Amino acid sequence: MRDPTFVAFATMKGGAGKSTLTTLVASYLYYNEGLDVVAIDCDDSQFSLEKYRKHDLQVSKVNPFHHRRLVKFYKTFRKDKAYKIMCTPVANAVSLIKEYLENGENPDVVFFDITGTINNPDIPNLLAVMDYIFVPTSVETGEAASSIAFANHVKNKMMTTGKTNVKELSLIWTKAYTRQKNRVMEAMDDYLAKLGLHSLETIIPNSSKYTKDGLPAGNERIFRSTLLPPDNTLLKGSNLPELVKEIREIIKV
Ligand SMILES: Nc1ncnc2c1ncn2[C@@H]1O[C@H](COP(=O)(O)OP(=O)(O)OP(=O)(O)O)[C@@H](O)[C@H]1O
Ligand SMILES: [Mg+2]
Repeated sequence: MRDPTFVAFATMKGGAGKSTLTTLVASYLYYNEGLDVVAIDCDDSQFSLEKYRKHDLQVSKVNPFHHRRLVKFYKTFRKDKAYKIMCTPVANAVSLIKEYLENGENPDVVFFDITGTINNPDIPNLLAVMDYIFVPTSVETGEAASSIAFANHVKNKMMTTGKTNVKELSLIWTKAYTRQKNRVMEAMDDYLAKLGLHSLETIIPNSSKYTKDGLPAGNERIFRSTLLPPDNTLLKGSNLPELVKEIREIIKV
C-alpha cells in the first residue's frame, strides 16, 4: 500500500482558478477514472469547495433534471458516495490530514486548495508537505508576475534548500483565449525556463464551461460538480481530460 500523494493547486494570486481546477481534477479522477481522492479546502476566507458541495446538493434537490441525473449516475457508480471534502484553516491542514490517514483511510491522492501569501508562515509549512504543486495562472501581466513570483519563491527558497517534499512544481496557463499554446505562452515558457521553471503542455481555455455548476431550474448541463463527473458533452474542447492525463503522468498515479 503506497502513501497518498499530496497535490496542491496553489498561488497567492486570487481568482486564478485554484478551486475550479481542484474540484474538476478531483472529480475527474474520482468519478471518471476510479481513483480515491480527498479534497482539503484550506481557504478559510471563503471555503469554496464546501460552498460548491452545498450548491451541488441543493441543485440536485430542487432541480428534477439534475436529481434524475444524480440518481442514475450513482446506480452504476462503483463507489456509493461522493469524495470527502474537509475544510480547515491552513495552520491545521497538516494535522487534519494526518489524523484522517491515521484512522485507516488510504486515498490515492489528497488535493489541497491553498491560497494566501507566502509571508504567512502557515503557507510555507503546508507547502512543505506537498508532493506536487500546480500553479494556475493566466498570461495577463499582473497575474502571471504574481504567480511566477510565488513559483520562484517555492522553488528557490524551499525546493532547492530541501525545505519541502515537493518533487515537481508546474505552472498551468489558464483562462486562455486559445486551445493550444500561442506565441505569448511560448515566450512566457522561455522566460520560465530561464528561471528553472516550466508550465504544462496542456492549457486551460477561458470558457463558460468552467463556471457551469448547475442552476436550480432548467436542464443546462453541469461541468464543475463535486458530486458528479463533468458532463460528457461539455468535456469536448475543455482540455480537462488532457490536463488530467498530463497531471497523472507527473504525479505517477
Ligand atoms: N477556465 C476558466 N474559464 C472561465 N472562467 C473560469 C475558468 N476557471 C475559473 N473560472 C472562473 O474564475 C473565477 C475564479 O475561479 P476560482 O474561484 O476557481 O479561482 P481561485 O484561484 O480559487 O480564486 P480565490 O483566490 O478567490 O480562491 C470563478 O468565477 C470561476 O468560475
Ligand atoms: Mg479558491
